This record gives sequence, C-alpha cells and structure tokens, in this order.
Amino acid sequence: MSNNTDTVPESYPMNSGDGTNSYTKNSYFQRAATNVVKAKIDDVIAEKLDVKKNSSTSESTFRLADLGCSVGPNTFLTMQNIIDVVQQKYQSQGLASHMPEFQVFFNDHVSNDFNTLFASLPPRRSFFATGVPGSFHDWLFPESSLHFVYSSYALQWLSKLPEELLNKNSAAWNKGRVHYASGLMVLIIPGIPNGIHRSSAPTGMIFDFLGLCLIDMAKEGLIIEAQVNTFNLPVYVASPKEMTQLVETNGCFNIERMEITQPGARVDGLSGQALTKHLRAGLEGIISKHFGTKIIDELFDRFSKKQQESFNLLESKYNVGTQLFMVLKRI
Ligand SMILES: C[S@@+](CC[C@H](N)C(=O)[O-])C[C@H]1O[C@@H](n2cnc3c(N)ncnc32)[C@H](O)[C@@H]1O
Repeated sequence: MSNNTDTVPESYPMNSGDGTNSYTKNSYFQRAATNVVKAKIDDVIAEKLDVKKNSSTSESTFRLADLGCSVGPNTFLTMQNIIDVVQQKYQSQGLASHMPEFQVFFNDHVSNDFNTLFASLPPRRSFFATGVPGSFHDWLFPESSLHFVYSSYALQWLSKLPEELLNKNSAAWNKGRVHYASGLMVLIIPGIPNGIHRSSAPTGMIFDFLGLCLIDMAKEGLIIEAQVNTFNLPVYVASPKEMTQLVETNGCFNIERMEITQPGARVDGLSGQALTKHLRAGLEGIISKHFGTKIIDELFDRFSKKQQESFNLLESKYNVGTQLFMVLKRI
C-alpha cells in the first residue's frame, strides 16, 4: 500500500445501474463463487475470530470492509452472512450481552456507481453502511480500525499496466493478445485481525476469445490493428506461490488457509449468453475507453457466437474456472 494520492488511479468500474447489461443483473457467477466458500468463511469465523478479546475492550462496534464491492447485490449478501455468523459466535460463547453494533465499509473506486449501491441497500439490515471511495492500493482506513476485511474478485485488477506491455521492443509486448497471464486470478485482502482472501480464475480461454474477436474485427477494418496491439486488460492472475511470497514479503500477516475451489460446479445454469453478459458487465467500460462505444454490441455478439461454437465443439460444460481462497491473519 502507498499513501501517494497525487494521481487518480486507473479504474475500470463494472457496468453501472440495474439495466440488462449491468453488473447488478450479471454477477451471479461471482455470487456462486462466494457461495462455494461460504461454509469455509463460517468455519474461519468459528475457529479464528477472537470475540472474547473484542468483547473485553470498550469497543462496541465491529467494523467490516468489503474491498472492491462494486454495485451489489453480492456485497450485501456476503456482508450480512458474515455478520450473522459473528453474531452466532457471540451467542454461542455466552457473550450475547456484549453483542457489538456492526458497521460495514463498502469500498470501491470513486468511479463505481455508489448511487445504485446505496439505493439498493437492503431496507432491513443489521449494519450501518458507510461508503469508502478510493483505490484499496492507497490508505483507506485508520491504523488497526477494522476487525474483518473481505475482498472477492477484485484483486486481479492491476492499478497500472506494466509498461513493458506497451513497449514493442520488450519480450512482454502483447501483440494480438489482450491479457498477460492465465491461470489463477487472485483476490486478496489484508485483514485486522482477520482477512478473507479469495481469488478466482475464469479460464484464459475467455480472454483469448475476446482477443480473437478483436483481431477479426481489425482484419475486417472495423477497428485499427494497432489499437488491438496496444490493448491489454489490466488483470493479473497470480499463482498461489506468488501470493504466498507476497504475504511473506509484506510480513504483517500469517496465511491461515489457502485452497483452490471450483465455483464452476455451482453455476451449471450459466449459459453462453449469460457468460457473455457477465463479461460485458465487467469489461464494457475498459473496452469502450480504448476502442470507443460503437464497437461494443458487435464485439460481444461475435464473442457470444465464438464461445458458443467452441462450447458445442467441446461437448462439455463451459469451465468457468477455479478460485483461490485465502485467509490471512494479522500478526
Ligand atoms: C468483478 S467486481 C467484484 C465485485 C464484488 N466483490 C463481487 O464479488 O461481486 C470487481 C470490483 O473491484 C473493484 N476494484 C478493482 N480494483 C480496485 C481498487 N484498486 N480499489 C478499489 N476497488 C477496486 C472494481 O471497480 C469492481 O467494482
């Protein structure tokens, strides 16, 4: 983290509002991914969260943060689930009379659609809601002020593209490809005292299809080839080994749990069309920024057809990927 706030960080918000192409309507893959680890999060709270310690202080507020919360509804469901389990723990430990109040910090880039987020807050909720605009690569919270930090499907977004990607003379020059790596997509959050870290990985194939569609469109003269070559998704898929090294280098956290799970099994109903809409909800902003808005409908029509053809060819379910679930504890 750095507290350098001189420049506004790059941001690529999910599609805003609640229309047909919005993230709100097209994020049930991410929700299924959360559901896959829900029982694990419950276990972690049961095993690792020291509510006795919390209740012995004069502190009467339990503060949670969701880093990269987007526009919901996933964030509301997860935050409420976590609160429910923490409350159960207070009760099962005979600490019901020390039950804290809960405050949830919803964090995302300033360009996130916070209006839609807050307009869709569940009317019946057991927490105080607070918005925290800004990049989680910067300082967002006072020292030691959070009890639980959560982040899902957000840490794979880089704050900046590596400069080599745009240098034609570099080995990393990404001609004709739109993403830098495939494999695991890592989402990680430092937590005080507990942090839930999760990651996910749609297969590289999805991004490759997108790249192929862009190349076809360039061949047909709908876009300029040079634009395709300079387009890179600022997404990096870190491996479990890299994540471990990062945490060790940081030195503030212990890795309590780390495992790979497969949300794909829970999203059997994710049709080709739904997959396309999910991708559009997440990437329309960044693609429009580079190529303009005119190509969007055409690009995603092509993507839908291309992935459907391959889907039929493979005669198997679309593999929507794996995810890395990490739990870190503040040392
Ligand atoms: C795919 S959405 C995931 C939303 C939500 N966590 C979920 O699981 O449905 C990723 C979100 O992370 C946010 N994000 C990415 N990098 C970020 C950063 N550095 N700081 C804050 N938010 C960030 C994006 O703006 C986006 O809203």
